[in-house]
Amino acid sequence: MLEIANLNQYYGESHTLWDIHLNLPKGVCTCLMGRNGAGKTTLLKSLMGLHPIKTGQVNFDGTDITHIPTYRKVRLGIGYVPQGREIFSQLTVEENLRLGLTVQNQWHKEIPDKIYDLFPDLKKMLNRRGGNLSGGQQQQLSIARALVANPKFLILDEPTEGIQPNIVHQIGEVIEYLCKKAEMTILLVEQKLAFARRTAQHFCIMDKGYMVAADRIDALDDQLIQKHLRV
Ligand SMILES: Nc1ncnc2c1ncn2[C@@H]1O[C@H](COP(=O)(O)OP(=O)(O)OP(=O)(O)O)[C@@H](O)[C@H]1O
Ligand SMILES: [Mg+2]
Repeated sequence: MLEIANLNQYYGESHTLWDIHLNLPKGVCTCLMGRNGAGKTTLLKSLMGLHPIKTGQVNFDGTDITHIPTYRKVRLGIGYVPQGREIFSQLTVEENLRLGLTVQNQWHKEIPDKIYDLFPDLKKMLNRRGGNLSGGQQQQLSIARALVANPKFLILDEPTEGIQPNIVHQIGEVIEYLCKKAEMTILLVEQKLAFARRTAQHFCIMDKGYMVAADRIDALDDQLIQKHLRV
């Protein structure tokens, strides 16, 4: 589904990602792990075209997407839920959701009912401003906004960061549903081991800008955790 080869990335002179290789199989949820500053968000922004790729190649469903602009990646079926949610606080919940339609040039359509089936709380808050939602509700809105564009491949950057436990649980259920029932391919950045083990079938680990491990989730053992994840 998604293949990354030889990807290198820089902030100015600072070499941040080193020769990244990664294959994400279709219909699988892969958890990308790594300590703070390892390069996880930089990799995701590079995939989305928010940080233009210096060297290397990214293929999505057989298409070379290395240098195409972000909006075209979304139209090809890549959804992105950024770290820190980035919803529009002055817009209502409904307006935030409609932005997901705009990017697909479908602004005249209605928000699909399946969005509200996944996030029933949002339906009750359509006229509320994004900035007046709790952190957990904003995260749900950010995920829902990405789903409105009907992605085949969904990227989520730490969707459970700083969120109350009941909503973390709901978000876990949504990710499991998307992957197992809706056959979506998912790349999830997550620091909580228990959540990663419950939600993902594969994992990969970044350490200081390198991809140092990638395997099935049951191969994530204490040695790897100690070496690359413990702080
Ligand atoms: N805009 C930027 N300009 C310069 N350096 C940056 C920028 N953004 C990130 N970095 C640096 O790049 C490295 C990777 O950062 P990145 O945000 O990708 O890490 P991360 O794994 O997502 O961390 P976290 O778990 O804290 O979200 C870090 O050393 C960080 O300080
Ligand atoms: Mg990050």
